[in-house]
Amino acid sequence: MSEHDQVKMTSMDYRPERPKAENPIKIMDLTLRDGHQSLFATRGRTEDMIPVAEKMDQIGFWATETWGGATFDATHRFLNEDPWERIRTLKRYFKKTPFSMLLRAQNLVGYRNYADDVAKAFMYRSVENGMDIFRTFDALNDYRNFETVVPIIKECGKHFQGCICYTLTEPRLGGEVYNLDYYVNKAKELEKMGADTICIKDMAGLLAPYDAYNLIKALKAAVGLPIHLHSHFTSGLASMTHLKAIEAGVDIVDTCMTPYAYRTSHPAIEPLVMALVGTNRDTGFDIKKLAEINEILESEIMPKYKHLLADNTVSIIDINVLLHQTPGGMLSNLINQLKEMDALDKIDAVYKELPRVRKDLGQIPLVTPTSQIVGVQTVNNVLHDKNGERYTMITAQVKDLCYGLYGKTAVPINPELQKKALKGYSRGEEPITCRPAEVIEPELEKARAEIKELAMDEDDVVLYALYPVTGRKFLKWKYGKEEPPKEVLPKSLEQAKAELALIEKAKKGLVVEKAKLEKMPEKSDGKRTFNVFVEDEYYKVEVDEVGGPPVIRYAQPLAAPAAPVASQPVALTPAASPAAPPLPPPPPKAAPKKAAPAGEVKGEEVKAPMPGMIVNYPKKVGDTVEKNETVVILEAMKMENALAAPVGGTIKAINFASGDSVPKDAVLLVIG
Ligand code: CO
Repeated sequence: MSEHDQVKMTSMDYRPERPKAENPIKIMDLTLRDGHQSLFATRGRTEDMIPVAEKMDQIGFWATETWGGATFDATHRFLNEDPWERIRTLKRYFKKTPFSMLLRAQNLVGYRNYADDVAKAFMYRSVENGMDIFRTFDALNDYRNFETVVPIIKECGKHFQGCICYTLTEPRLGGEVYNLDYYVNKAKELEKMGADTICIKDMAGLLAPYDAYNLIKALKAAVGLPIHLHSHFTSGLASMTHLKAIEAGVDIVDTCMTPYAYRTSHPAIEPLVMALVGTNRDTGFDIKKLAEINEILESEIMPKYKHLLADNTVSIIDINVLLHQTPGGMLSNLINQLKEMDALDKIDAVYKELPRVRKDLGQIPLVTPTSQIVGVQTVNNVLHDKNGERYTMITAQVKDLCYGLYGKTAVPINPELQKKALKGYSRGEEPITCRPAEVIEPELEKARAEIKELAMDEDDVVLYALYPVTGRKFLKWKYGKEEPPKEVLPKSLEQAKAELALIEKAKKGLVVEKAKLEKMPEKSDGKRTFNVFVEDEYYKVEVDEVGGPPVIRYAQPLAAPAAPVASQPVALTPAASPAAPPLPPPPPKAAPKKAAPAGEVKGEEVKAPMPGMIVNYPKKVGDTVEKNETVVILEAMKMENALAAPVGGTIKAINFASGDSVPKDAVLLVIG
């Protein structure tokens, strides 16, 4: 804004003389959804939102985002919390600020397009439970995927915010596909569909400040609707981008409270408030009230989540986004996946392969679920392709995408890949061109019948329809049919503080039994050093043989390294701990509990090519299978992989059940 826009300021203390701005920028707070989703793997618990809820309600936010995105999945799967209950509980504390949710259009809050009957039921339940604003997006920007959910938003008198996923193929806005015209045309489509506001959803933080200026100007000129900007901080551009967007006349921007801001999250609210004080876009927010909320979050809430911070790097920005345009969440998933397969050295190959896969798949934007689809397929290609043959292991979701089940891609899918992916595809080998949900059979009544002994109300039925495997598990916990495992139980502030203190102690090398500390013997010259790896941390352990250094007379090859003997003094020196993003959680590294002992069942073993969760086994023990027939579906990194029988024969053993987590190389079944 230019100088004449400045309202006269009379003192450094802006409050007494702070006139109301002509056109205050509106703010949506994302702390309670995208904030913890971005930084803490969506692990924020309702009980940790309540202490700040009433204070946040007093700030004057245009809306607060409390639900949607990954929260539905994470609450019931990892937190033993009913996702619907979260809305109802928070609604009791937020008396005036509207609630917004992130709706993945026909994907709802999952990772695939659901049938229309499930979509409708989900929408009515969301409205009934208290949602006000439906920020709706489709990963392919194919608005045919809005056709079922949007009429319900309108029918219920709620706010329909239409999103355009912002993506690039060039370093900056422009080029063949994602240029200014593309975004203007998308905005016009949304206006025609009855959008109340339009959101530019910059999930990877790719939107550069001057591109934002031009984009907002163009959108404001093309459509008569308020424009909302959602820009992740990941690359470090977002704060600058906000300011240029505000100068261009953007109506609403998204921010987080400081402890939930920056990194892969969003710019913080407080600096923006200060930057705009006294201008015609002044938020009017009381920065002291914001500071009080931050104080509660910092001292009472953050200790419980600190360990989840996705990385321990000093830099708070991720330059890979500027170099490779890989969104932060996607990158941490890729790194996690490679790490679990002991293939972190392949990261450069992954960077190289990723744009090729994206191009083959129709140059799609990278956002949930397409970021997972492209990411997992990229890793599969890097790890499994051999002898020049590409796409040797195609995920079920890539097959669905090739079939048209996600919608229309920005440019056509590579026809060779499409043909390969659809060979033997259950719905047919010819891709569809209609709205995807047209070919999805109704799912709700089938789900209702399957879960009738557990579901007590419609919310339970919808939860199960969206997430059959983890949903059933959750409902068993919810109704006391099964004890929830301790990983899903909440942690108290005291426990969290004790854990943090222990980590601090360990870092200083003080975690040694007291008795041994008192009389720690001197280290001899004969001490030997071992690297001990514990999950994602490693320790340098020095071992001294009691009674002098060992004399090695004859070295014979060992099958596995021996553990240090307990009676020897062991000093732990913590070494660097590489970043380990916690979503999804690492599956157990221990041997599978139900794995058949080697040699017990003879035959061809089907092993897990990656750690994951068993979705189901389409066959039973004793069934015959043909070569290449699907024998087990394994979910890894949220993608389902149909594993095929390497040989024909009879199923001799099935070693796991639906919902079990399995490590890499676990023997899933045996064919004889
Ligand atoms: Co976001």
